[in-house]
Amino acid sequence: MFNLNNILRENIKNLTPYSSARDEFQGEASVYLDANENAFGSPLEDQYNRYPDPLQYNVKKRLSEIKGLPVRNIFLGNGSDEAIDILFRSFCNPGVDNVILVPPTYGMYEVSANINDIQTKKVSLTEEFQLNLEGIAEAIDQNTKLIFICSPNNPTGNSINRDNVETLLNNFDGIVVVDEAYINFSRQKTFIQELTEYSNLVVLQTLSKAWGLAGLRVGMAFASEEIIEVMNKVKPPYNINESSQQLALKALANVEQVNGWIKETLLQRDKLVLALKAFDFVLDIYPSDANFILVKTTDPKGIYNFLVQKGIIVRDRSKIDLCEGSLRITVGTPAENETLIDTLKNFK
Ligand SMILES: Cc1ncc(COP(=O)(O)O)c(C=O)c1O
Repeated sequence: MFNLNNILRENIKNLTPYSSARDEFQGEASVYLDANENAFGSPLEDQYNRYPDPLQYNVKKRLSEIKGLPVRNIFLGNGSDEAIDILFRSFCNPGVDNVILVPPTYGMYEVSANINDIQTKKVSLTEEFQLNLEGIAEAIDQNTKLIFICSPNNPTGNSINRDNVETLLNNFDGIVVVDEAYINFSRQKTFIQELTEYSNLVVLQTLSKAWGLAGLRVGMAFASEEIIEVMNKVKPPYNINESSQQLALKALANVEQVNGWIKETLLQRDKLVLALKAFDFVLDIYPSDANFILVKTTDPKGIYNFLVQKGIIVRDRSKIDLCEGSLRITVGTPAENETLIDTLKNFK
């Protein structure tokens, strides 16, 4: 049985979090002399002399409407990369605990584990890029705190079988992190609605992909109120800056525009797949639920270098186990995709 108290680090359980000026006084006042800010303003047109809302209420309120879950179940991070780091710092004791990774998958889980001195136990995906449940069950020990599942998975592009994720949620006493950075492009439904069912579930999403806001650094974690409280306690007090909060809020009003881009991206993805299949150096294109495709080729290094010379950058993933020969290609605008295809016609 999952019990948050059993997996929480002792020092975090006992932590008195930093109490900022904005934590201690909430409401409207006419004179703020409590935070050592510059009362004259900012040397800019827009004013940023005041600290931002530490708990980003307005952005979360809007997200809560879009995602259909209460504000208390939402954490915002400086990118979902920050949420990943905070999970390590909240639940994993350095030099003692371990986490399970299922490669090939998003590289930051391992980097974050290494930064935090947490052992990683790797259980490769199957040839079909699905979970090896038996392998995972064998790898779990009493110090295993987190399992990271990326669905749709980066770099393979496929979604992970829902039933398998639920098997983990039902049987693992630690936290199952389902990273849905690419969920807006997927035919699969989000795990957000399972939050009421599973107290050991953390769902990660981001404004960096479909929402087109990678530069603002706003990532989300959705989880039980208890887990969100822990993450808020551990995060830096002002982790989402004022301009990111304002711009994210403005962007979140434009759902229609984003939905239009998602549709166009999926259309372009299909077109790109068709065009790439015609090349004899393309051996396979894996089914994708994301805004990128993994393309197995006869000469990944050669194609990569050729494209770089022409000013086109794709991602060489050919050194990664199970991705031998493969390049990861993000779906671009129609013009960018056409340039890619036209350029590849000259690859010998
Ligand atoms: C699977 C996955 N998760 C998380 C991230 C990080 O997103 P963010 O920009 O929100 O930190 C990425 C970025 O590429 C990703 O591919």
